[in-house]
Amino acid sequence: MRNLNIFLTLSFVILSRIYLFAGEGMWIPMLLQQMNEKEMKEMGMKITAEDIYSINKSSLKDAIVLFGRGCTGEIISNEGLLLTNHHCGYGNIQKHSSIDNDYLTDGFWAMNRDEELPNPGLTATIMIEMRDVTKEVLEGVDDDSMSMIIRNSLVKENIKNAISGFEENSKYKAKIVPFFKGNQYYMIVTETFKDIRLVGAPPSNIGKFGGDTDNWMWPRHTGDFSLFRIYVDKDGNPAEYSEDNVPYQPKYFLPISIDGVDEGDFTFVFGYPARTNEYLPSYAVELITEKRNPDKIDLRETRLDIFSKYSNKYPEVRIKYASKHARVSNYWKKMIGESAGVERMKGIDKKMEFEDNFVKWADESETPQYASILIEFKKLYTKLEPLQVATDYLNEAGMAIEIVKFANTYKKLVGISKDASVSEKDIKTEIEKLKQNNQYFFKDYYQPIDEEVMSALLILYDENMPDGKYKPEFFKTIHGKFKGNYQAYTKYVFSKSMFDKENKLGEFLNTYKANRYKKIQKDPAFEIASQLGSIYNNNIRKQVLAINNSIDSLSRIYMKAQMEMLPNHRFYPDANFTLRVSYGNVSGYYPKDAVYYAPFSTLEGIMEKENPEIYDYVVTERLRELYTSKDYGEYADEDGELHVAFIASNHTTGGNSGSPVLNANGELVGVNFDRCWEGTMSDLMYDPNVCRNISIDIRYFLFIVDKYAGAGYLLNEMSLVGSN
Ligand code: ARG
Ligand code: GLU
Repeated sequence: MRNLNIFLTLSFVILSRIYLFAGEGMWIPMLLQQMNEKEMKEMGMKITAEDIYSINKSSLKDAIVLFGRGCTGEIISNEGLLLTNHHCGYGNIQKHSSIDNDYLTDGFWAMNRDEELPNPGLTATIMIEMRDVTKEVLEGVDDDSMSMIIRNSLVKENIKNAISGFEENSKYKAKIVPFFKGNQYYMIVTETFKDIRLVGAPPSNIGKFGGDTDNWMWPRHTGDFSLFRIYVDKDGNPAEYSEDNVPYQPKYFLPISIDGVDEGDFTFVFGYPARTNEYLPSYAVELITEKRNPDKIDLRETRLDIFSKYSNKYPEVRIKYASKHARVSNYWKKMIGESAGVERMKGIDKKMEFEDNFVKWADESETPQYASILIEFKKLYTKLEPLQVATDYLNEAGMAIEIVKFANTYKKLVGISKDASVSEKDIKTEIEKLKQNNQYFFKDYYQPIDEEVMSALLILYDENMPDGKYKPEFFKTIHGKFKGNYQAYTKYVFSKSMFDKENKLGEFLNTYKANRYKKIQKDPAFEIASQLGSIYNNNIRKQVLAINNSIDSLSRIYMKAQMEMLPNHRFYPDANFTLRVSYGNVSGYYPKDAVYYAPFSTLEGIMEKENPEIYDYVVTERLRELYTSKDYGEYADEDGELHVAFIASNHTTGGNSGSPVLNANGELVGVNFDRCWEGTMSDLMYDPNVCRNISIDIRYFLFIVDKYAGAGYLLNEMSLVGSN
């Protein structure tokens, strides 16, 4: 496993998994009072659980939004001003950017309301309330002996009825989400806003400072924020964009503290963590960290190396591949950190030890049927492994070839062209869509990279997938006609295909007639895509679904059993894209023997990293001036420095990007944007010694808006508190 032994083994004593550490957990807002308030107060919190989540009065939760589909944001003014990460607003900032107005590079600041830019399709969702609906959803479901199919359909029916029952009498939307693997269900009631305008974004060399090099790492110096505003119609209701819309007046907005945080201070994060898997059996963790991650890491590394080789040579290629590189490298790096973290924690051994105790307990308890759960898991994961590995190769090798993935977007056109019942108009519509899509594709496409990627990935696919049901037919062509010469085969594909030839493809679409779908079907890139697709559809999809259904059902019973075994343990449900509270303390950590990371980074560190030759570390003249003159105003810390970011032991994951980080008084002190590398296994298991979330210090945000961008007028609508 290359790359995985980069962390030195730490010598601290690792305590048993069963003990829950301060810092661990993503808690349900409506249960804070019952489950967490006491501990939060002991750790330093001065407000109450009711101040955080209440259905009787306005509370902090009224200021938290699900931003777009995958991030969190928070409202920081009485006029709907919304703060999130730069990397969360990135797509929208990019859409407004052109050569003449390059907001990504130069930043963007609306100097008045009229200059705020609409973003059709972007939404912000606020949770109105949540309700425990377990009883209703599990009505008629008696026990674990009920067949899985009957149980699932009953649950589905109950959910449907509960939602329609609610929505009939409400202006809000509801959904019902399983918690604790389906042992509990909550109804989540929401309101979604649709007119969200861009207000401000720093230039990339602030908002993305450190780029992929510093990503997932501490010390960090990224000013990862952007500003939006929620607009509503005149009656205060969500509405599509209209000139007549007005800024949203929230039930609550977050006050901002300019006092900063000290080491040891209590903080909490309030946001939308997407997915964690803290209760997996050891077999599942082993499959992820010792098989799937290493495979995907290798495949991604192959791609990234080729991207870099050309990007370093040609500046225009670097621009084209910047965002692709960021996307591929983000989880590449995460997976390396995660596998290394589990290994360092001896996580699999710990799980196995827990499982031994579990089986002993089950044997001795009144529920001996639980004793077989782990044997069942083992069988299921053994069956699942080859299917998941094959899926990874299909996605990370096959479909990672750009021309193949692109050709695959023509599948629908082939389908509707063959279908006599589809009208010419529908075909035209599809063609217009494809033409649009072609533009995006070719704008950022560099054929020599793709050609090299293709032969490199096909070799890995061929070497690592057994012959047989997961190997597409075209490998026979490679070994037959092309005598095992992957480069020659790749050359052939690229010379014959139209999918890397913008003009040819445009011409083809301009003159398209339904009976010409055969030309697509015969295209070698399309053929590769459809063979990969058939393998998935015929040999993987249904099998995985069936196994996963059994795993889900077993996981529900295992979860319940663990809760019965440890009745005094406070369990928290895995993240599932619902609003959660995590809490911890500002603290540094030891990433390796004899190295201590302090919890704060400062502008000093930006100047240390500065390198005009390296894109990720360019510092603008303006920022340098402010640094030289030490013009930090009231945003400086007591220590005289300008703090840029800080770390704390709050348990966070993807989706928590943009989440507010609040102090003991419930005031905004930071915006979460990442985790420290050594702690990225917290999606599978949390280690209080190294798991840290990374936040931008709110004073750096204020400093950039006010001193750097000269958009200080925006501060007038915020509520700044503190005595600094
Ligand atoms: N690692 C962070 C997250 O998972 C930030 C990703 C965006 N930044 C980047 N340099 N690629 O989303
Ligand atoms: N950057 C991540 C996000 O976009 C948050 C980092 C994490 O996974 O903790 O949600």
